[in-house]
Amino acid sequence: MNEPRRAADNNSCNKIEILSNKIIKDGFLLILVISALFFTNSKGTAQVYGQNGMVVSSNILASQVGIDILKKGGNAIDASVATAFALAVTHPKAGNIGGGGFLVFMNAAGEATTIDFREKAPIAASANMFLDSTSKLFKGINHNSLKTVGVPGTVAGLYMAHQKYGKLPWKELVQPSIDLAKNGFVMSWDLYEDALFLNEDAKPTDFMYSYFRNSNGEITKPGEVWKQPSLAKSLKLIRNKGHDGFYKGEIAHEIENYMKKNGGLITKTDLEKYSAIERKPIKGTYKEFEIYSMPPPSSGGVALVEMMNMLELVDLDSIEFNSTDYVHLIAEVMRRAFADRAEYLGDPDFNPDMPLDKLTSKAYAKKRYQNIDMSKASVSDSSLYGHPYDGNNTTHFSVVDKEGNAVSLTYTLEDSYGSQLGSNNLGFIFNNEMQDFNPVPGVTTNFGQIGSAPNLIAPEKRMLSSMTPTIVAKNGKPYLIIGSPGGRTIINTVFQTVLNVLAYDMQIDKAIETMKIHHQWLPDEIVYERFLMSPDTRAALQAMGHRLREVKNLGSLMGITYDAEFKVYIGAADSSSPNGGAVGY
Ligand code: GLY
Repeated sequence: MNEPRRAADNNSCNKIEILSNKIIKDGFLLILVISALFFTNSKGTAQVYGQNGMVVSSNILASQVGIDILKKGGNAIDASVATAFALAVTHPKAGNIGGGGFLVFMNAAGEATTIDFREKAPIAASANMFLDSTSKLFKGINHNSLKTVGVPGTVAGLYMAHQKYGKLPWKELVQPSIDLAKNGFVMSWDLYEDALFLNEDAKPTDFMYSYFRNSNGEITKPGEVWKQPSLAKSLKLIRNKGHDGFYKGEIAHEIENYMKKNGGLITKTDLEKYSAIERKPIKGTYKEFEIYSMPPPSSGGVALVEMMNMLELVDLDSIEFNSTDYVHLIAEVMRRAFADRAEYLGDPDFNPDMPLDKLTSKAYAKKRYQNIDMSKASVSDSSLYGHPYDGNNTTHFSVVDKEGNAVSLTYTLEDSYGSQLGSNNLGFIFNNEMQDFNPVPGVTTNFGQIGSAPNLIAPEKRMLSSMTPTIVAKNGKPYLIIGSPGGRTIINTVFQTVLNVLAYDMQIDKAIETMKIHHQWLPDEIVYERFLMSPDTRAALQAMGHRLREVKNLGSLMGITYDAEFKVYIGAADSSSPNGGAVGY
């Protein structure tokens, strides 16, 4: 699938670095007022300021929908629900109603909770369902067939969040997405490129063939209005009937029909039995900061806290950002956290004895940290676990309202445009999340396929995720709201951004944009971003025994920080998101 592209840095607002430097105190308020007047929304990395609220997402139209809800008196949960539905229309490669995800919520008093709306395996699923008659992985079947579709969780999760913590009527939150789908919005170059790519080999009967076409049967071109009438119809059912609008009645009936006709597993019973689950967040600390993130079935929170605990043991003043020592150290920390991820983590409802307290404890971090050798790379033991298949087209958004309630939400279809399958009558794309399970029981390879037990397929089990929606609190209030897409790289890009803000004191746009690496234990390699690591550093790392691999980009972070002194939220969207943007007011 196409890698995310980096958009041009398109706003001079990020030149306002005075906020973090705090040099010209007297001039600051004036600059703040000017920036608030002129820079309350922005695409790309530019920082945006808002005293009353902020939404940062991978589509600026969806961010605006969220801000409109805040302006109407909605809270951060209301804005998140509306933004999530809007992204299902405007950012269909990952925004969805046919997938699933996680929401971390912290109210203004600093109390945090999470909502798990991860997809589930259908009742008819089994541990060996992706194997051929010789017990080998049936190539491709766990990526691009209807059997890869997990029971979607998004509508259940958004509905639960609204029922428990929302303020405005549900209908008002779904309506903007109906308007966007029905009346359309202007096709961007980025979406057009996706449309051409997805149509390269598409047959007229394929779902993706008709998906981007207008009423003349032509693919909608950049600048033309793209309408999605079938999606608008599905969203209307959800607007009118809430949770049941998706999991019962017309939509459920059509999903079952479509699955039966085309070899899928999901039935009306699967849909009726699906429910989102409120779970206690994973909590950790780093110096004076409290970190709240997603518990299993995401591995994100546990790995993040484990890595931050290891780094708390290091005097980072002596390790310059982006130096060889820095890259080596964080790669070694990642290697250890990912080994633990593979060994221990899965759906908590199927793995009641996961050692979460141990993995997130300071004592365990000390033990794990002890055998890091600062002069040479460790070796990942390939006789154990791993997992190569991870979709990287998830999407994240961060929201805060004027009371200080904050939401960090990451959701996904797994691959870009998920399974690329769906019913024309419903207008939305099904996920291919089943590939996040360990596909071959007991088989682990150097290339990174994991075969460990906690994440094998079982009926109604949730597949292990790497999504890491995170809120960091300072003095009991949301201080940093952050997350990213990127499959397993999510954990590491969020980790490095948190570290950049908390330990290296970077302002949010710098923290998001600056060099990131990824190590996931197996394969045993450091993945780095093109142009962002010097050849000298690479040579020094190789001399220490590291293998390196270059990619165009890692992550697409959407973040908000709070400046308590000036009582202002500062948002920034990663420039790797072509249509992303922060909107504040
Ligand atoms: N599908 C990506 C993840 O859940 O980590």
